[in-house]
Amino acid sequence: MIEIQSSDTILDLKSGRLIGSHLKRTTTTIGDLRNYFKDRTALNRMDPDQAVYWVEMEENKQKEGEEGGLFFGISHLCCGTVGDEFFMTKGHVHNKFDTAEYYWGIKGTGLLLLDNLKGSSRLIEVKPGAVLYIPGRTAHRLINIGNEELAVGAVWQTISGHNYGRGAQLFHNRVTKVGNSYQVTEA
Ligand SMILES: [Fe+2]
Repeated sequence: MIEIQSSDTILDLKSGRLIGSHLKRTTTTIGDLRNYFKDRTALNRMDPDQAVYWVEMEENKQKEGEEGGLFFGISHLCCGTVGDEFFMTKGHVHNKFDTAEYYWGIKGTGLLLLDNLKGSSRLIEVKPGAVLYIPGRTAHRLINIGNEELAVGAVWQTISGHNYGRGAQLFHNRVTKVGNSYQVTEA
């Protein structure tokens, strides 16, 4: 006789929210992103406690730095700008430099900025259903260019870890709002 169990966590595909009893949430605010946006004057006029994004993760028994496990999380990036620069995540490379990651779009419209740290960058459109492979040795950052929250799922190795570099130093490009569209400039 095999016991049938239900999963601890449900991903609500419409809202991008996780539902479950073993979840943890980390919020990143304007104050936390002081060294990441270009327009410091605009940033200093904003409420430092304003949330820019939050990440919810399924709490499992895995610890960062351990081999063999996986983490599962959803990033929720709010809609907005600092000056004319779209809200974005800090972005990072992995401490375990060669480890890759999958992202997938759930809600909203955005861009995934990839930078190989050797002067080559690319942007991939993020929309619901888009499956995005992030190779190892590549800095990655989400940017919300839409008019609603951008929700993106991610699965990465427990051994990967996060290295946020020195803010914008990891990335050679910025994405700014121009009318109803965007433009890419050098950082
Ligand atoms: Fe990552």
